[in-house]
Amino acid sequence: MSVFETIKSRRSIGKMTERRPTRSQIERILEAATHAPNHHKVEPWKFFVLAGRARAELGTIMASSLAKRLGAATNDKTRALLNKEQNKLLRSPVVLAVAAEQSHQPNVLSIENIEAVAAAVQNMLLTAEEMGLAAMWRTGDGAYDPQVKQWLGLAPEDHIVAFVYLGFPSIPKLERHPTPYEEKTTWLGWEE
Ligand SMILES: Cc1cc2nc3c(=O)[nH]c(=O)nc-3n(C[C@H](O)[C@H](O)[C@H](O)COP(=O)(O)O)c2cc1C
Repeated sequence: MSVFETIKSRRSIGKMTERRPTRSQIERILEAATHAPNHHKVEPWKFFVLAGRARAELGTIMASSLAKRLGAATNDKTRALLNKEQNKLLRSPVVLAVAAEQSHQPNVLSIENIEAVAAAVQNMLLTAEEMGLAAMWRTGDGAYDPQVKQWLGLAPEDHIVAFVYLGFPSIPKLERHPTPYEEKTTWLGWEE
C-alpha cells in the first residue's frame, strides 16, 4: 500500500481480540515513531509498552484517582464507573502509552514537543494499519493524571499524548467520510 492509501484506509478500531501482536510488530511500530519530525532534534518521545498485568495495575491507579474525584458517595453508578475505569486498559492486549517530555531548554517549546509526539503517534497508527493490526488513539482522564505519570516514571510536567490501544481487529472497518478539504482550505496567491 502507498502511504496515501494507508492514510485513507486507516480507521480507529476499538474492539480487538485477545491475541497479542508480536514483539517484532510492536518494535516496528516504535521504530516508525522515532522517525517523526521534531524541532531541534530533541526526540521528545517516551514509550511504555503495557501488556499482561501491567494494564490492570495501571487500571488500579486510574480507578483510585477516579474514586478521589467522585468523593465519598458509593452507589451502583459510582461502582460501575470505577469498574469501567479499572478495566479500561484491558480492552486491548497491548497499550502503548506515548509521552512527550517537558522541554527544559528555552528554545524548545513544550507545544512543539507535544506536536512532535503527535506526529510520532500517527506514524505508529499508520504502521499498525500497514501490518493489518487494530489501533486506537485514546486519552481520557488517565492521560492527565499525575498518579498515572508517576506510576510510569514520568515527571508531573511531562505530557501523556496517547494511549495507543493495539491488537487484532474483532470488528470490520467502517468507511470514513471526512469533510472535503475544499471546505477547510484557503488558497492565497495561487495563480493558475
Ligand atoms: C489526542 C486524541 C485523543 C483521543 N482520545 C480518544 C478517547 O479518549 N476516546 C475515543 O474514543 N477516541 C479518542 N480519540 C479519537 C479516535 O482515536 C479517532 O481518531 C476518532 O474517533 C476518529 O476515527 P478515525 O481515527 O477512524 O478516523 C482521540 C484522538 C486524538 C487525536
